[in-house]
Amino acid sequence: NADHGLTIDGNTYATDSWTNVPPSILAQYGRRLHIQPNHPISITRKLIESRFPAFQNRNELPAVVTVDQNFDSLGFTQDHPGRSRTDTYYINKDTLLRTHTSAHEVDVFRDNASDGYTISADVYRRDAVDRSHYPVFHQMEGALTWDRNASSSSEDLAETIMSSLKKLPKHDLVVEDPNPPFHEERNPLQTKYHTPEEAKAVAAHLKRSLEDMVVTIFAAADKALAASGQGAQGEQEPLKVRWVEAFFPHTSPSWELEVWWRGDWLEVLGCGVIDQPLLNRAGVSSRVGWAFGIGLERIAMLLFGIPDIRLFWSKDQRFLSQFDESQPIRRFQPFSKYPAAPRDVAFWLPKSDGPVVVDTPASKTSAPSAAGGQVTEPMSSETPSFHENDLMEVVRNAAGDAVEDVSLIDSFKHPKTGRQSLCYRVTYRSLEKTLTTEEANELHEQIRQELVLKFGVELR
Ligand code: PHE
Repeated sequence: NADHGLTIDGNTYATDSWTNVPPSILAQYGRRLHIQPNHPISITRKLIESRFPAFQNRNELPAVVTVDQNFDSLGFTQDHPGRSRTDTYYINKDTLLRTHTSAHEVDVFRDNASDGYTISADVYRRDAVDRSHYPVFHQMEGALTWDRNASSSSEDLAETIMSSLKKLPKHDLVVEDPNPPFHEERNPLQTKYHTPEEAKAVAAHLKRSLEDMVVTIFAAADKALAASGQGAQGEQEPLKVRWVEAFFPHTSPSWELEVWWRGDWLEVLGCGVIDQPLLNRAGVSSRVGWAFGIGLERIAMLLFGIPDIRLFWSKDQRFLSQFDESQPIRRFQPFSKYPAAPRDVAFWLPKSDGPVVVDTPASKTSAPSAAGGQVTEPMSSETPSFHENDLMEVVRNAAGDAVEDVSLIDSFKHPKTGRQSLCYRVTYRSLEKTLTTEEANELHEQIRQELVLKFGVELR
């Protein structure tokens, strides 16, 4: 590749030592599930858009963006972990596949800031292999701003926002919101730009708008459940949500919204008061407002009862024919599940001083973050010598969608030599057919050999 560059959407990009987009990702590129008629991701998008009828919907922005768009323009620090090559697909050192729809915020504000907008798009992240993670998924960004200098208004900004809040629909949702609006270090008021009243008014409008959206989504989910005879949650308990403090470089203060759904708190979205320097960069410094980001797959899985994220990519009519955007949402009727073929691979890591980044078996059970979770955490300054996402990619490149799950099942440090041994369980299972023993063995052998070649591990 180094000589020829990488061609995406008819544009050829020079490659360099940062390039890490694998063929398996390029093969999925361009499906645009979020705008495919009758696709569950598209139906989910439209359902959410319907709650923001005055917003413009930007659904065709290309996925190749600059490092500046994806990170710098949003105020990501230089050492933010989201920038890491273990987490992000780079085309070259300046260009990447967007990791979130926020990459377009500044451009869209610059284009037209006067209305609210949504941006729906495919986003790309290196991640685990399991039933709720896929390296390509879809997000929706939403934002609304007010003009501080609106000449038509004699009221001050906080009052203008509070009076538009009063026009929002009323709901009877149970809302827990235990935290104070600001936290001095973690989630400060942007004192240079906003009065506390202004920020509180923006936050109140944001929360009410998103609560209303959640009511719509879960009412549709309840109806679908009831229609399928699986019983609506609404019959047992009222819908309950809670606001949890969160951290994003491009909003302050920030929150996550969680919903109590079938016995669990489920993260649904991330949001906050837009970082004012971001709006200044877009040339609209007089505007103040809110933004949110929501992952569409998670919502679609819950709405339709889709058990495995790989299904969204299926071209099988047994899947696609079940969705009709002109009809009320119905639960997905699973077609026969083919048998799983688990295979373990155990190996010694090569000796090295760098840290080893693996997922612990326990953290597998915790839900992935709602919008994707590019939260602000310090990154280790050392470069890891082994990152689990590299292994995930070897598996995906060799076996593609024939793998359902990859889990670390054992990790062990030799007391004398100090060498580290890891054991992963790779669960092979196709959504389309039964894998034969030979097919699973062959895929597994290929993965074992790749691990030796790529990382110099010693197989056990
Ligand atoms: N971009 C954030 C993410 O992907 C989500 C987000 C969007 C948070 C807008 C706040 C405001 O994790």
